[in-house]
Amino acid sequence: LDNGVGRTPPMGWNSWNTFGCNISESLIRQMADSMVSTGMRDAGYQYVVVDDCWFNPNRDSAGNLQGDPTRFPSGMKALGDYLHGKGLKFGLYEAPLDKTCAQYFNSYPGATGSQGHEAQDARQFAAWGVDYLKYDWCSPTGTINDQVSTFAKMRDALAATGRPILYSINSNSVHAKTGPQRNWGDVANIWRTTEDIQLSWDTGQTNGYPMGVKNIVDVNVPLAGYARPGGFNDPDMMEVGRGTLSDAEQRSHFALWAVMASPLIAGNDIRSMSSATQTILKNTRLIAINQDTLGLQASSIVADGNQRVLAKRLANDDVAVALFNQSGSTRTISTTAAAIGKSGSSFTLVDAWTGATTTTSGTISASVPSHATVVYRVSGGSTGNPPTPSTTTLVSASSG
Ligand code: DGJ
Repeated sequence: LDNGVGRTPPMGWNSWNTFGCNISESLIRQMADSMVSTGMRDAGYQYVVVDDCWFNPNRDSAGNLQGDPTRFPSGMKALGDYLHGKGLKFGLYEAPLDKTCAQYFNSYPGATGSQGHEAQDARQFAAWGVDYLKYDWCSPTGTINDQVSTFAKMRDALAATGRPILYSINSNSVHAKTGPQRNWGDVANIWRTTEDIQLSWDTGQTNGYPMGVKNIVDVNVPLAGYARPGGFNDPDMMEVGRGTLSDAEQRSHFALWAVMASPLIAGNDIRSMSSATQTILKNTRLIAINQDTLGLQASSIVADGNQRVLAKRLANDDVAVALFNQSGSTRTISTTAAAIGKSGSSFTLVDAWTGATTTTSGTISASVPSHATVVYRVSGGSTGNPPTPSTTTLVSASSG
């Protein structure tokens, strides 16, 4: 979406994965403080996104949305001011139809969706200083064309406010199915491509709930051709730093999100994150690859049950290569400079995790532990014709 924002994938934090509906003004402020003190903000994590359950279940007498007066006693404008005062940006959740997912699935009180209130709600968000709207389809009904027109209404309402607001949509909340998606690049800045991520590596499920990190990668990789500045596939928030996943799996999660040009939205408790978690989330080399201005999502070079090789062309003609070991034991994963579109006789490889630099005449190879991902930034030679990111055939639907 060409609305001036989201030219590179958004980075930030979201309340849902760790806190669900247990959110409050003091929690969000503490998280913001920690985003600053831990260096997350300075590493690029700008948006603090307040997910479902922030609202008063009733609109006011003029039909305006209101924050929950108990959880957000200072009001939403004050929260936005607080975040802006910390050099952060304000993200907020809403649903297009009558109910948010918590209202629909968890009997959370009220029915505060924006349908029929789009212009009024968009103006309200802008007045509160909202910089990012997550708009979450939560109805068992609706065709893809209903979704297009409903999501487009809020797109237009946000544009009419004149405030640059990053627009994040989720068409999947109630479909219990992932499948190929429409190309949402004319409607939103980021669009969810899968069911909700779970704190799990592999549930065996690629077309429905529940999905682990590896399963989400399987669905998101073939959608690479739809990513571009202003519009990115969103394979959901990160589970890094939330336990359960091994260190190798958490590093793979982050490295793969980085090369897939995915939004990097942390979902862990920033107040208490370990130094191991910080090492992953603040890896400057991987963040630079993710935030590269060309805005390409990595192409798939090799994909089989044991390994994936992904290559992301970068603006300065370097190419980032990810060697992902999906198998249960250490294996050597190899590709070549030619396979990633480089020609020449000597190339420099910088390991994104260790910073170690090596040179090669063409072979790009590493011994990769089970479930780990080695990423090299490859420079040198010339970049001719890198493999074009694939464009899985999507469902057809009206243009927004
Ligand atoms: C479904 C979304 O996919 C989640 O990320 C979260 O926003 C919940 N809804 C909130 O109810």
